[in-house]
Amino acid sequence: MKEILRLDSIQKYYGTKTNITKAIDDISFSVNEGEFIGIMGASGSGKTTLLNCISTIDTVSAGHIFLDGKDITEIKDKEIARFRRENLGFIFQDFNLLDTLTIHENIAFALTINKIPIKKIDNKVFNIANQLGIGDILDKFPYEVSGGQKQRCACARAIVNKPKLILADEPTGALDSRSSQMLLDTIQSMNKKLNATILMVTHDAFSASYSKRILFLKDGLIFSELIRGDKTRKQFFGEILDVMALLGGNLSDVH
Ligand SMILES: Nc1ncnc2c1ncn2[C@@H]1O[C@H](COP(=O)(O)OP(=O)(O)OP(=O)(O)O)[C@@H](O)[C@H]1O
Ligand SMILES: [Mg+2]
Repeated sequence: MKEILRLDSIQKYYGTKTNITKAIDDISFSVNEGEFIGIMGASGSGKTTLLNCISTIDTVSAGHIFLDGKDITEIKDKEIARFRRENLGFIFQDFNLLDTLTIHENIAFALTINKIPIKKIDNKVFNIANQLGIGDILDKFPYEVSGGQKQRCACARAIVNKPKLILADEPTGALDSRSSQMLLDTIQSMNKKLNATILMVTHDAFSASYSKRILFLKDGLIFSELIRGDKTRKQFFGEILDVMALLGGNLSDVH
């Protein structure tokens, strides 16, 4: 198994010396290629901060993060945009599609900015769109398709460059339960069929039950870890609810 991501004693503080928030107190873990990790925890436990540090959107206060052996806490500012573009895929709660571009163009855009030759772009877009079940809506604009379809377009855009890591923050947050389930099936197939390595933040036990391993955060620390192993998704779901009950707080109030 190849290690793709390693966090070594990450800390993240916000604020000033007199008024400090420890968003991440001390977190270490590693992720192998092809893993699908869920990150859970109550509101304010540090999930988004953790994802933002891994994605280089935010900087750590201490510690190191290695992506495929490269220390990303030491990347120079002027290299960051390119690093993200070439190595990471993102799926956000609010889709982040460009409204003036068609679904096809939205996916193609991710390839264009990575300087993929124009001749190869159409083929790559059709391929990934068909695999994710949106091959028939490529000529539509985002406002002409459903939330679930928009989010599968976001998935296609996230994976079309074959990034080393896909980061998703509450990807089902804006979807109804049927669309959520379709999206989770899509994310799962990106993991299973395309061997994508995925880190997904979620409040929701149902969403988390699609992952293979879950890290539970509490007050900026890893409180607990669950591994799906050979368990069915339903059994895993039950275990997640048990940990959530142990964690207490407002974790289950949100959905
Ligand atoms: N830019 C910031 N400036 C100051 N404090 C921040 C900032 N971002 C986050 N925090 C604080 O850091 C802690 C962790 O926040 P974070 O957004 O990572 O939580 P979260 O687990 O993603 O919560 P939620 O489930 O509500 O999205 C919280 O106490 C939050 O108030
Ligand atoms: Mg958050």
